Amino acid sequence: MPSSSTLAISLSFFLINIVAIAESKSTIEPCANSDSCNSLVGYTLYTDLKVSEVAALFQIDPIALLTSNSIDISYADVENHILPSQLFLKIPIICSCVDGIRKSVATRYKTRPSDTLASIADSVYGGLVSGDQIREANGNLVTDPTVLDVGMNLVVPLPCTCFNSSDNFLPAVYLSYVVREMDSLAGIAARFYTTVTDLMNVNAMGSVAVKAGDIISVPLPACASNFPRHASDFALLVPNGSYAITASHCVQCSCGPGNLNLYCTPASLAVSCSSMQCRNSNLMLGNVTAQPSSAGCNVTTCSYGGFVNSTILTTLSNFLQPRCPGEHQFPPLIAPPTTVTRDSMFAPAPAPSLSDGAGPKTPKSSFMPSSGSLPGFSPANGPIGSASDATNLVNPLSSFPTLAFLLLLLKLVLLTAL
Ligand SMILES: *[C@@H]1O[C@H](CO)[C@@H](O)[C@H](O)[C@H]1NC(C)=O
Ligand SMILES: *[C@@H]1O[C@H](CO)[C@@H](O)[C@H](O)[C@H]1NC(C)=O
Ligand SMILES: *[C@@H]1O[C@H](CO)[C@@H](O)[C@H](O)[C@H]1NC(C)=O
Ligand SMILES: *[C@@H]1O[C@H](CO)[C@@H](O)[C@H](O)[C@H]1NC(C)=O
Ligand SMILES: *[C@@H]1O[C@H](CO)[C@@H](O)[C@H](O)[C@H]1NC(C)=O
Repeated sequence: MPSSSTLAISLSFFLINIVAIAESKSTIEPCANSDSCNSLVGYTLYTDLKVSEVAALFQIDPIALLTSNSIDISYADVENHILPSQLFLKIPIICSCVDGIRKSVATRYKTRPSDTLASIADSVYGGLVSGDQIREANGNLVTDPTVLDVGMNLVVPLPCTCFNSSDNFLPAVYLSYVVREMDSLAGIAARFYTTVTDLMNVNAMGSVAVKAGDIISVPLPACASNFPRHASDFALLVPNGSYAITASHCVQCSCGPGNLNLYCTPASLAVSCSSMQCRNSNLMLGNVTAQPSSAGCNVTTCSYGGFVNSTILTTLSNFLQPRCPGEHQFPPLIAPPTTVTRDSMFAPAPAPSLSDGAGPKTPKSSFMPSSGSLPGFSPANGPIGSASDATNLVNPLSSFPTLAFLLLLLKLVLLTAL
């Protein structure tokens, strides 16, 4: 049992948060476990930024940023490509459980001259966080929110939800989306191929009203993996229409468009990888052979089974199905965007007009991924072994029934202060 002083402190903390009611709402997911999940935040660039700069802002692998947005990584020097201001991007982050609430605390920001908490929150991080939340997450580090020392290393807590990585019992990745002035719930639902009802259920909303600055959780259908628990990419989830690079940049997995079965192939990045051939066969990861027979079609596949102890697991399977499969269709890739069209601001992915028109391709690249220079983050890391410090945190509220109940109430769309 927590001591009474711990309780008093958490209670007052809690009340202060309630009192500091801000105007916008965000969806809070209480959690008790130290587990985490893959999630996304929707981010609109506040200025022109290189791919590598956006990645650094969130301390993620530039390749993960590109593949999450179905941007072709085979372009020369794509990491230095300049992305245009106002471009909307989906940023992959690990969602952990901190103080009983789902959030991501793996992002840090180094302050520059003339930064204020408000400019960092509203501009640099596009309203994904508030100045108060940054202040709170950094304890006594910030004494005067209007004057920040240059070079401070601030934790930037980001909103995220897991909801069991499922929506209506189907695999889903949750995107934390900052509502803009021109948005309506119906518009957001259409943009992300979901329904108003589903958004209202997920966010426990009583009405369809949303307002600029609210942060809502949008479920994106995804392809689930069934890698063993000790795989470093355990629980890999890839949203429909996008890619992920895993196994130390050796394997690329995609989802959709035809079905929601995860499809993995060798990644063709210039990295040295262990064998990706299925044992007792000449098939490589992703290869499928089909033989029509009287009983149907005899299909043999070599599929990816997770990254375990630096080994790429492969699984050879053989089954009969009524009809032979056609050639695998990949989700379309787009060229690195250079302009923001109206469509790219309103569509979930940049508009088809930005595509190089070469039809579906798979990401290929000749550059060495630079993610090795990003300590503590690997795109191959699933929830286990992620850069989360949540595992060290004990939730002081979870053992106190009344507060636990209050926390549950927070699942009702709540006010940002938390
Ligand atoms: C969690 O998700 C799994 C599969 O996605 C599902 O089988 C299970 O019922 C879900 N659990 C809850 C509590 O929703
Ligand atoms: C996946 O995306 C494709 C095209 O982007 C779409 O046609 C398909 O309906 C989506 N699947 C699901 C389950 O949402
Ligand atoms: C098997 O997969 C490899 C790697 O993706 C590919 O280069 C090759 O063409 C495939 N072979 C067949 C027979 O599909
Ligand atoms: C399917 O093909 C594999 C080899 O391609 C063969 O070993 C297996 O016996 C076949 N199965 C059936 C049911 O025909
Ligand atoms: C991982 O591989 C190394 C070297 O092959 C081995 O010593 C170690 O026991 C393995 N660990 C696990 C968990 O299998």
